[in-house]
Amino acid sequence: QKHLLGIEPLHPMEITAVLDRADQYVDLNRQEQKHADALAGLTQINMFFENSTRTQASFELAGKRLGADVMNMAMQASSIKKGETLIDTALTLNAMHPDLLVVRHPHSGAVDLLAQKVNCAVLNAGDGKHEHPTQALLDALTIRRAKGRLHRLNIAICGDIAHSRVARSNLILLGKMENRVRLVGPPTLMPSQIDQFGVEVYHDMEEGLKDVDVVMMLRLQKERMDGGFIPSEREYYHRYGLDAAKLAHAKDDAIVMHPGPMNRGVEIDGTIADDINRSVIQEQVEMGVAVRMAAMDLLARNLRAARAEARAAQS
Ligand code: CP
Repeated sequence: QKHLLGIEPLHPMEITAVLDRADQYVDLNRQEQKHADALAGLTQINMFFENSTRTQASFELAGKRLGADVMNMAMQASSIKKGETLIDTALTLNAMHPDLLVVRHPHSGAVDLLAQKVNCAVLNAGDGKHEHPTQALLDALTIRRAKGRLHRLNIAICGDIAHSRVARSNLILLGKMENRVRLVGPPTLMPSQIDQFGVEVYHDMEEGLKDVDVVMMLRLQKERMDGGFIPSEREYYHRYGLDAAKLAHAKDDAIVMHPGPMNRGVEIDGTIADDINRSVIQEQVEMGVAVRMAAMDLLARNLRAARAEARAAQS
């Protein structure tokens, strides 16, 4: 692949290749000397048009640990604020010869569009309600390490599915790897074209969590709800917030996941989130750095190979 725009175009073998490479980087990241040179000589630009803690920090660390020159564009201070379009901004940066462009944007499809206009490798760091591929890959690595496999698991994705790019990328990835995925949440927070995914849908948490191996909770994405959220947060927590009583319906060794940022007392009880025997939320963050190192390493190899081929064709 030239870019990482979504999980949709990836073959299961490509997903496994990223996870295997990321596993190696987990070991590197745990050492005192965390540096390798897979991106030495390359320039990485991070363009985040939406807020981020985990994704931006981990892409920056990943690039630096692999030896890239990393620049974080301060989008709030950029000429976007003076009316410059996304495409003109991208073409301007492209003229400075970056090798890797990491982009988060509030509009679905914006990152794909941008990738068509530039010469470098583009990584989607989350676009609107569409995809968040590195989140799904880091979730997959977390599950694989916790459960010892990434197939034939019962996985419940719970909460605001309709507005979640994390849910969409995970649905695609976990389906490709032959897991049984179910969606759990209120009817108003299910996507309109839910049938296309061929998954079971539950509107009751206790039924939906019955005998699952993995419970993946999602944040209420209020910033994507045009008219606001209808039920109160208190009511939502009562029916759909993960607490000990609801979790008791999952398997005894079920793991609890959340991509963050987390709203304690809205979609998850703080004590469940902090329970090191069940929650793998901190592991997800750790895997985020390793997966982004692996994704950029693999794309950089493809980029270097394509450039070498182009040079050979010219000579
Ligand atoms: N999970 C995730 O994308 O978190 P951030 O918004 O903090 O990057």
